[in-house]
Amino acid sequence: MNAEKFPIAVFDSGYGGLTVLKELCSSLPQYDFIYLGDNARAPYGPLDFNTVYNYTLDAVKWFFKQGCPLVILACNTASAKALRSIQQKDLPNIDSNKRVLGVIRPTSEVIKNYTLTNHVGIMATAGTVLSQSYLLEIEKFYPQIKVTQEACPAWVQLVEEGKHYSIEANESVQKHINQLLLNDEDIDCILLACTHYPLLIDKIKQFIPAGVNVVSQGKIVAASLVKYLQKHTEIDKLCTKNAKRNFYTTGNVEDFNSHASIFFGEEVSALPIKL
Ligand code: DGL
Repeated sequence: MNAEKFPIAVFDSGYGGLTVLKELCSSLPQYDFIYLGDNARAPYGPLDFNTVYNYTLDAVKWFFKQGCPLVILACNTASAKALRSIQQKDLPNIDSNKRVLGVIRPTSEVIKNYTLTNHVGIMATAGTVLSQSYLLEIEKFYPQIKVTQEACPAWVQLVEEGKHYSIEANESVQKHINQLLLNDEDIDCILLACTHYPLLIDKIKQFIPAGVNVVSQGKIVAASLVKYLQKHTEIDKLCTKNAKRNFYTTGNVEDFNSHASIFFGEEVSALPIKL
């Protein structure tokens, strides 16, 4: 008997995961994807561990109800605070055939490709920074790399509110870049460890010295998913491949549609859901 097939699920607290989805669609154009932004409860960055875990688990369970065999947490904060518990504690009880993957491990695995000095700066939400997830993951793969973190608490809100071109955004970007480079002047690679931040990349590039790489995660996560599906054919064969993309939000649909196209680069028509 043929197993039923379903889209790959992509989750973020809001719009940021769309920067990852865009690259997933470009690397795996034939696959179907279903995106959920928990916009009504974003930002996750300032929330405590348990709240982020509970919100993320709500989303994962919703995706499983839709039948999705594989969920990508395209959110660093959710990956930092919820992924491990969901993989180890919840999945065995819910359905051990389903998979949930995050963005921190695939990014840490390849970070060495972007630094010559072995000094890496991480810009992320307060939640991701406090979790120390990047310090721990990068240390596992590359103990020689020195990681310096900078929490940028205002950035998600600026991007969610469409203020990434504002003077306020300029000031905030300059302040945090200066602080990061003051803490370690040998940094030659700045990782945007929040999926919202690629919308600020032009501003960030204005304030960094020549020779410093600014790294977004979309392409890295996409390359990692391609490899994962090649290796895990048992999951790959459960994925539908009709090039369909469906969007859902817990927030206001009109707001989502107008903002999402900026992140995704195409018109989007979302449906509302409650978690
Ligand atoms: N895109 C999320 C991340 O990558 C933003 C988190 C938030 O909602 O604060 O961390």
